[in-house]
Amino acid sequence: MSSKATRSHLGVCYYPEHWPEDVWAGDARRMVEVGLTHVRIAEFAWSRIEPRPGEIEFGWLDRAVEALAGAGLKIIMCTPTATPPKWLVDRMPDMLAVAADGAERRFGSRRHYDFSHAGYLEDARRITRAVAERFGQHASVVAWQTDNEYGCHETTVSYSEAARQAFAIWLRDKYGTVDALNAAWGNVFWSMELHDFDAVALPNLTVTEPNPAHVLDFRRFTSDQVVRFNRAQVDIIREFSPGRDITHNFMGAVTDFDHFDVAADLDVASWDSYPLGMLERFGRDEAWRNWYLRAGDPDFQAFHHDLYRGVGGGRMWVMEQQPGPVNWAAWNPAPHPGMVRLWTHEAFAHGAELVSYFRWRQAPFGQEQFHAGLNRPDGSTDVGAEEASVVAGELQAIADAQTVDDATQRSPVAMVVDYPSIWATEIQPQARGYSGLALTFQFYRALRRLGQSIDIVPPGADLTGYAVVVAPHLIMVGEAAAQAFAAADGQIVFGPRAGSRLETHQVPPKLPPGPLSKLLPLRVVRVESLRPGVRVATDDGGAVHHWFEHVEVTGDAKVRAAAHDGKPVWIEADRATYLAGWPDDAWLETVLADRLIAAGLAIVETGDDVRVRDHGALRTIVNYGPREADASRLIAAADEVLIGDADLGVAGVAIVRRAAAAGKAQTS
Ligand code: GAL
Repeated sequence: MSSKATRSHLGVCYYPEHWPEDVWAGDARRMVEVGLTHVRIAEFAWSRIEPRPGEIEFGWLDRAVEALAGAGLKIIMCTPTATPPKWLVDRMPDMLAVAADGAERRFGSRRHYDFSHAGYLEDARRITRAVAERFGQHASVVAWQTDNEYGCHETTVSYSEAARQAFAIWLRDKYGTVDALNAAWGNVFWSMELHDFDAVALPNLTVTEPNPAHVLDFRRFTSDQVVRFNRAQVDIIREFSPGRDITHNFMGAVTDFDHFDVAADLDVASWDSYPLGMLERFGRDEAWRNWYLRAGDPDFQAFHHDLYRGVGGGRMWVMEQQPGPVNWAAWNPAPHPGMVRLWTHEAFAHGAELVSYFRWRQAPFGQEQFHAGLNRPDGSTDVGAEEASVVAGELQAIADAQTVDDATQRSPVAMVVDYPSIWATEIQPQARGYSGLALTFQFYRALRRLGQSIDIVPPGADLTGYAVVVAPHLIMVGEAAAQAFAAADGQIVFGPRAGSRLETHQVPPKLPPGPLSKLLPLRVVRVESLRPGVRVATDDGGAVHHWFEHVEVTGDAKVRAAAHDGKPVWIEADRATYLAGWPDDAWLETVLADRLIAAGLAIVETGDDVRVRDHGALRTIVNYGPREADASRLIAAADEVLIGDADLGVAGVAIVRRAAAAGKAQTS
């Protein structure tokens, strides 16, 4: 198919090892006919690449690569380390991870390895080297994926002896002396003092809760083990396949390790987007889940696109896109007709360079028999392939409007996300269900309902130039983050508990907000958590629930809203705002709208179902609701409508070239 240069590409995940060799060339041809340009292969193929110890068999994979390359497809090659074969496990039974209850996590599915096992790391290196040596220079291999979904099935944490020993070494490197460790953790409390690094145990199976500082360091260690494991593969791939992009496919709502740290070794971050499955896991109440049953949560995908664009330093792909019903949620409905198309356009609107569907053809065997593909098990075309093909055509239609610098263009609003802060409240929530991720997501949704486009950045990132910065959940504020906030020139909004713990998980000497107290002249003198249904009303008609702080204002700050007994809840000092409780949805929107307007940004209320995203000169508008929606307030008379129109049907998409942004996008 002759094509215009577009920086938005479509791909698919393919498993040649699942299908007879004589269908490969035909499959490849049809992929190209559908409009796909990329294909990801081999992430679970270890038992075919090395059927017996040391006997590497690349013949079949060579032929698969030739069939795909022959059709003109670009290949994303994977390392197969998420699925070590049975013979390897039999040789090293202690490479299996151990769950928190002490049970071994056995062979028979996938991800059955311990990140700290030295023997497994060696074998992971060995197989990575073999694959990288064989395919690293192949002209059609344009990118690499390391492993598959670190963190899937909760597999980054292991309570094995290998993990314990590695943790002891990690602690020695961090603290130098065991006295320093005892002081940092406050081990004098309950006589938990250690006499030697090697005496450290893992924080599971304790009588009551373990020391939070111990758990927090264990979480940091666990995250560093993922970084180390990933880096071992990246180093080998860079040696044998220089110049190719290296990625890893991250997941939705997984915070088990610091994704910014892992991605620091990658060229691009990718993630696996399953809107309907994740609605079941992460959605709100039953009514909400039923309303968005066939569409997914209207903000979940966007949040992760923005998160992973930030994690990838500006570069993001969707490596696996849901193509139809999945198999793994409690209930697995079919998407609305047109929804696969909508999800794909939405990803591009958030800066994705590639959207790759999972998988080419539904598998007739194995654990995922009920998981749709672009095609049915008999090879006939399913809805997913039809919609992918529609998108491919539409990408051609908008190619000219995609200005080159779109991908790097900043949004007006930044959101700071910090993984260790999320761990800190998982470890000591102090209120059942207190989730830093949920609070972060609530801020994100509120901003989107106000029509904003958002960048997500790590703490310490340069915040200058952003009109508004929000930090919904920043428990620990390091030196770099404190400096970045001080240098920011826009409005900053902090959620509750900001700066409430030091790196050691201790209370700051002068009380929270600790390192933020220059920006926020206040002291949090008491915190309380509230039972479900209990609300603290504010005198401006708002409310907080779940969490409420008693705050003393210590300097030049305005109390914009107080509880009825006069306790400050919305506190504003110069450019910085603090919310002394978990805001309810409507009040959070009120506060954020106020700050957006103060920063000179335009607000458009999108309502429940419609969302908008500006990207360079393009504005993409989508309808997640199960009914028609009117998007005319989001399209100016002078805008050029490229796709769809203001009457959005179910799963409707409109893409316009904004008259207001045309000049800006070319010069920024
Ligand atoms: C992902 C995984 C794929 C496949 C898919 C099913 O989590 O990476 O291998 O299992 O889910 O939805």
